[in-house]
Amino acid sequence: MKMIIARVLFLYFLCFIISLVNGLSNTDDTLMKALRDSLTLPKDHDWSGSDPCQWKGIQCDGASNRVTAIQIGKSNISGTLPPDLTNLTSLTKFEVMNNDLTGKIPNLSGLKSLETVYVHDNNFESIDAVFFTGLSSLRHVSLDNNNFGSWEIPLSLKDVTSLSDFSAVNCNLSGKIPDFLGGDTFPSLTSLHLSNNFLFGELPMSFVGSPLQSLLVNGQMGNEKLNGSITVLQNMTALTEVSLQGNRFSGPIPDFSGLVSLKTFNVRENQLTGNVPGSFTELQSLAVVNLTNNLLQGAIPIFKAKNVLVDVKQGTNSFCLDSPGTPCDPRVNTLLSIVEAFGYPVRFAQSWKGNDPCSNGWVGITCAGGNIIVINFKNMGLTGTISPRFADLASLQVINLSENSLNGTIPQELTKLSNLKTLDVSSNQLCGKVPEFNPNLVITNGNADIGKDCPRPGSGSGSSSEDSGKKAFSNAGKIVGSVIGIVLALLLIGFVVFFLVKRKKQYNKMHPQQQSSDQDALKITIENLCAGGSESGNDAHVGEAGNIVISIHVLRDATDNFNEKNILGRGGFGIVYKGELHDGTKIAVKRMESSVISGKGLDEFKSEIAVLTRVRHRNLVILHGYCLEGNERLLVYQYMPQGTLSSHIFHWQQEGLKPLEWTRRLIIALDVARGVEYLHTLAHQSFIHRDLKPSNILLGDDMHAKVADFGLVRLAPEGTQSIETKIAGTFGYLAPEYAVTGRVTTKVDVYSFGVILMELLTGRKALDDKRSEEEVHLATWFRRMFINRDSFSKAIDKTIEVNEETLGSINKVAELASHCGAREPQQRPDMSHVVNVLASLVEQWKPAEGSRDSEDIYGIDYETPLSQVVGRWRELEGRGNASLNSSFFGASIPSRPPELDNTFNSGQGR
Ligand SMILES: *[C@@H]1O[C@H](CO)[C@@H](O)[C@H](O)[C@H]1NC(C)=O
Ligand SMILES: *[C@@H]1O[C@H](CO)[C@@H](O)[C@H](O)[C@H]1NC(C)=O
Ligand SMILES: *[C@@H]1O[C@H](CO)[C@@H](O)[C@H](O)[C@H]1NC(C)=O
Ligand SMILES: *[C@@H]1O[C@H](CO)[C@@H](O)[C@H](O)[C@H]1NC(C)=O
Ligand SMILES: *[C@@H]1O[C@H](CO)[C@@H](O)[C@H](O)[C@H]1NC(C)=O
Ligand SMILES: *[C@@H]1O[C@H](CO)[C@@H](O)[C@H](O)[C@H]1NC(C)=O
Ligand SMILES: *[C@@H]1O[C@H](CO)[C@@H](O)[C@H](O)[C@H]1NC(C)=O
Ligand SMILES: *[C@@H]1O[C@H](CO)[C@@H](O)[C@H](O)[C@H]1NC(C)=O
Repeated sequence: MKMIIARVLFLYFLCFIISLVNGLSNTDDTLMKALRDSLTLPKDHDWSGSDPCQWKGIQCDGASNRVTAIQIGKSNISGTLPPDLTNLTSLTKFEVMNNDLTGKIPNLSGLKSLETVYVHDNNFESIDAVFFTGLSSLRHVSLDNNNFGSWEIPLSLKDVTSLSDFSAVNCNLSGKIPDFLGGDTFPSLTSLHLSNNFLFGELPMSFVGSPLQSLLVNGQMGNEKLNGSITVLQNMTALTEVSLQGNRFSGPIPDFSGLVSLKTFNVRENQLTGNVPGSFTELQSLAVVNLTNNLLQGAIPIFKAKNVLVDVKQGTNSFCLDSPGTPCDPRVNTLLSIVEAFGYPVRFAQSWKGNDPCSNGWVGITCAGGNIIVINFKNMGLTGTISPRFADLASLQVINLSENSLNGTIPQELTKLSNLKTLDVSSNQLCGKVPEFNPNLVITNGNADIGKDCPRPGSGSGSSSEDSGKKAFSNAGKIVGSVIGIVLALLLIGFVVFFLVKRKKQYNKMHPQQQSSDQDALKITIENLCAGGSESGNDAHVGEAGNIVISIHVLRDATDNFNEKNILGRGGFGIVYKGELHDGTKIAVKRMESSVISGKGLDEFKSEIAVLTRVRHRNLVILHGYCLEGNERLLVYQYMPQGTLSSHIFHWQQEGLKPLEWTRRLIIALDVARGVEYLHTLAHQSFIHRDLKPSNILLGDDMHAKVADFGLVRLAPEGTQSIETKIAGTFGYLAPEYAVTGRVTTKVDVYSFGVILMELLTGRKALDDKRSEEEVHLATWFRRMFINRDSFSKAIDKTIEVNEETLGSINKVAELASHCGAREPQQRPDMSHVVNVLASLVEQWKPAEGSRDSEDIYGIDYETPLSQVVGRWRELEGRGNASLNSSFFGASIPSRPPELDNTFNSGQGR
């Protein structure tokens, strides 16, 4: 009896299951039959059976019997699609391309499994705006070649965050390329093809950082086409294939040094202007390049890649000469630099043909006897800045830039134009101090901010007199390059640090008396940044990074052929020599061991230098220049006569020095804090020093301090995130979280700074093997001592005179030291806080000494035009200090300054 009931129940259950399954498949059956009814299938396309899963081109899931794929492309099918396919919820592939289908592409919204939609090459008339709603698995879309009425990329596409390729070629697409198409919304979108439509407007800035590899937007057919600048491409480093052909893009080709995979670059028939940059012509990956029919200027480029197919046939281009690679007349190059700062306006590119600016028809140019005497760019709608390169046209008598929208400052260099009679910059948006010209020469009315400080960048300024467009681009490129460079260099540095520690130990064993070797008067390890070889016959010139390349002969002379007696110290990757130039300028020359740097590392180091040369602050040691010849790699630094801080606090007796007074220590601490604060808060990036310690702090004759040794500097990530690095640095100064995880933030420097404060307070070294176990590690010991007031007073360096006056500030600094040395990075203050605390102590103690704030104008000078910085520097320090006067050369001085010739050519018998 029980058995029978069980069987009946089982059968009943079975029926239920079957009916359920049938019910499900019936849903799809109904829809599939509706689909069959609305299509006209060719005879041989058999969809006659009752089970759609058996039909040609249909796939089902075996278990559920649900339709998973409709693949009926290229089947000579006509007809329409039924209005609602949204119940096919298991569908992953919908491929009906290359048929003759018409009507509307039905609503597929909500098909969560759908991965592929290929409807291209049909005669569909429309696609729903909500088509993409909820298609969260969709990866491949092709809508090419349909007869859609005018439509725009619908907002519903935003739902398709898994999108990998999207193609809507030749299908009456209009509107702008939506700015949601960037990498933020579509982290996997590698291919975007929107050619032959009616799109207009600019490439969206959201393309920055996008993973796109293939971007085809060529051949827009409307009256308006795609236009604007193509700068955003420089931030799309995954690109392999770009076609912008037949649009109205303008402005220069940006710095492409990051686009290392770029193979195809077709920009023919646009309005691109300016010089074709080396960062582009040097790309090794290029295979096909077509630049014809633009308004490109300068010399016809030569591309470096092997087997590259290049078409730069002049067309409408404005290259100066017909033969590739032949440089233009210097006057042409100068004029191009000038208009570069205006973003290479189309107007000049159209007008300036050939290689002779004095031939007829060069708009804005007037010559006399082959010399340009007048530049008249009045009311030409110019934006951008005034290039200092005007100064290269010595014959200029009149410059008229009035009634434009130029911003930035009037470059100091223009005062060098001795023939200049009129400089009319009226009615622009210039700012900053007007350089000193002859009376009545310069006309500045109609510039609201002239004479006032320029707005800080970020609020939209910072573009300096020499910051022409190209400079901005190429700097940017170098910074990105340098990030890569730093990462690569770190591997090398990690190895080298290890190697050096070993080597140094050996050295100390061999030369025990030469204790000072480990204080390296100039242990600067920006290791080797020598830029490509020196030009023969030139003792010094401005190198690629804008840095000064100095001839080996000059340096041999200066150091008495690297005489032993001139050795200041050893460390980093080489030996540091003291040197003296013919005019008496003292320098420190670091000579790299050639074994340390392989050719491969060179580029990375160059990039790193490109960043580091822009790090300029009065509390950071200055890199004057460098040299690369044969196997020689040398760095030339400002000489710091008083040596390292470590010799003054730890070895003053051996070296016959006086112990530092408390106030002096305070001021040094403030100097260091300011230098580090600057590193941490540079305009656009934040640098982490990673190796702060007294032997990397150098003192000048005025006993003010500068931070040195940027060999381990690295670019901090944005926000509060940390980055993982190979651990480098010096034991005793390593923040605990860094030592354990290798992750750095700016807070690792704050920790090291805390340890330095402890050293200044106690006169003890961060790690002192000679002390008892519990006193070896200063930071730990200090924390313990600090808890107890009595014990703390015993910890203070005996040479410091503790009295009522000093005690207050000693306590505050001790508090600050322990705050900075906190175990948790979050608990440590920012350097700006540290600067505030120390500044108030210095102020209160000795206002005259401490408040150098009046000089701060040349302290932080990242945004200030370097020419101005040099000028101010000379004003403020020049008279008192010959060594600074003649050997400070800026990172971006545009042409060789006359001082350079004096310094390096005098005494060379030339
Ligand atoms: C496609 O179908 C049409 C009829 O609908 C027929 O005339 C034509 O020959 C077919 N073409 C091919 C290539 O099968
Ligand atoms: C789709 O499914 C819903 C229920 O989920 C049903 O009401 C509707 O009739 C179905 N549509 C078609 C065309 O089968
Ligand atoms: C498309 O289909 C979804 C789901 O069936 C529905 O919610 C939506 O209203 C439909 N939209 C149109 C325009 O038919
Ligand atoms: C494109 O859209 C416009 C506006 O709907 C229409 O007039 C034109 O015929 C369409 N072009 C094509 C090729 O379908
Ligand atoms: C681009 O074209 C639009 C019109 O489509 C125009 O308003 C805009 O000024 C143009 N931009 C540039 C940079 O030429
Ligand atoms: C480059 O574009 C021009 C038209 O601007 C065309 O005539 C030429 O064939 C193209 N060259 C190559 C190599 O594709
Ligand atoms: C000049 O104006 C442009 C916008 O037209 C702005 O981006 C730039 O920051 C400005 N530069 C200065 C120095 O004000
Ligand atoms: C674009 O790339 C340049 C370097 O090529 C970089 O300096 C700049 O910050 C990038 N822009 C953005 C918005 O990331």
